[in-house]
Amino acid sequence: MDLMEYQAKELFAKHGVPVTVGTVVTDPADAAAAAEANGGKVVVKAQVKVGGRGKAGGVKLAQDPQEAVAKAEEILGMDIKGHTVHRALIAPAADIAEEYYFSFLVDRANRNYLCIASIEGGVEIEVTAVENPDAVAKVAVDPQVGVDDAKADEIVAATGFPAEIADEAKSVIKSLWDVFIKEDASLVEVNPLVRLGDGSLEALDGKVSLDTNADFRHEDHAAFELVEDADPLELAAAEKGLNYVKLDGSVGIIGNGAGLVMSTLDVVAYAGEEHGGVKPANFLDIGGGASAEVMANGLHIIIGDEQVRSVFVNVFGGITSCDAVANGIVGALQKLGDEATKPLVVRLDGNNVEEGRRILNEANHPLVTLVDTMDGAADKAAELAAANRA
Ligand SMILES: Nc1ncnc2c1ncn2[C@@H]1O[C@H](COP(=O)(O)OP(=O)(O)OP(=O)(O)O)[C@@H](O)[C@H]1O
Ligand SMILES: [Mg+2]
Repeated sequence: MDLMEYQAKELFAKHGVPVTVGTVVTDPADAAAAAEANGGKVVVKAQVKVGGRGKAGGVKLAQDPQEAVAKAEEILGMDIKGHTVHRALIAPAADIAEEYYFSFLVDRANRNYLCIASIEGGVEIEVTAVENPDAVAKVAVDPQVGVDDAKADEIVAATGFPAEIADEAKSVIKSLWDVFIKEDASLVEVNPLVRLGDGSLEALDGKVSLDTNADFRHEDHAAFELVEDADPLELAAAEKGLNYVKLDGSVGIIGNGAGLVMSTLDVVAYAGEEHGGVKPANFLDIGGGASAEVMANGLHIIIGDEQVRSVFVNVFGGITSCDAVANGIVGALQKLGDEATKPLVVRLDGNNVEEGRRILNEANHPLVTLVDTMDGAADKAAELAAANRA
């Protein structure tokens, strides 16, 4: 789970990383009081889970509370790389002398942890990493040892932190390591970590990804889920216990088994290229028991997606045989009645496929087309989606 900046900063504060969290507002009218509480001269920062907010105009300085309201008006509701800004963070404007980059992350390729740091931090860090890679230090961290004094010294030296701040940098690094390990994070990134005019260090930004597999030992992490930001279809699916992920295309997908559904997405994307670039609209794995109820729930969610123009039901009968799935589809269409408005391409194979196909042929539902092969069905579904395009 990725955290917003203000949430990351809450975790930083908990582990002693120098930080001023600031105040979150959702209404520009609240920005004046928030600015007042944060010293008058503030920055107004869009809270979205995407980098490069500054460059996109989502981080703005305000000289006084009145200007903070104006900046909050500009920022709230803004779209940054497809993310709508629902919250703005009002934080004291810092007197920045230097900007550094610092991160801990999981280095999967080397089965290790990695620290990446640079004294040339700030919004151009990606450019620096490409054009001047020597300015970016990479220090491996052994999970068995972690960041002890010796490792912190090594990181400080490799990064080239100025001597006058070496001790403070060491302490900040150890606190950030605590955030990384004690909170079960897979990423902790601070860009910029700044040296202020008075020589002290402060984290002015924070990105944290938490490992949700470790949620069982972090009761407090549940509070970081921002329900109102989730996709409404994904929320509805989660309520029904469906494994659904909304995508951007127009062919709704239902399958049984995550592997089959993944390959169905590929096959539809591939077939879609022949039909003007039609793409899958979602991932939906209905798992083993494709009962009429589960099928109806799945179809209901998919039909509720305005972007969907056709639906591809791709089922391989195993423990749940094809006749049970066919009955599920027929029952689901009955249950949905007038709600079922989009053409359905069904491909069944595997256990008891003949009986399954017989049931669907007999039901002879006007919306249903049976196709025997996966490629053929993907092509048909893509063709129907292209033909039904608004
Ligand atoms: N509290 C602050 N006071 C003064 N300047 C700030 C403050 N917070 C951020 N800035 C300035 O705005 C820039 C961008 O802010 P920040 O790093 O928080 O957002 P970002 O652009 O999303 O970051 P990234 O590029 O790392 O994703 C910082 O590099 C810094 O120069
Ligand atoms: Mg940043």
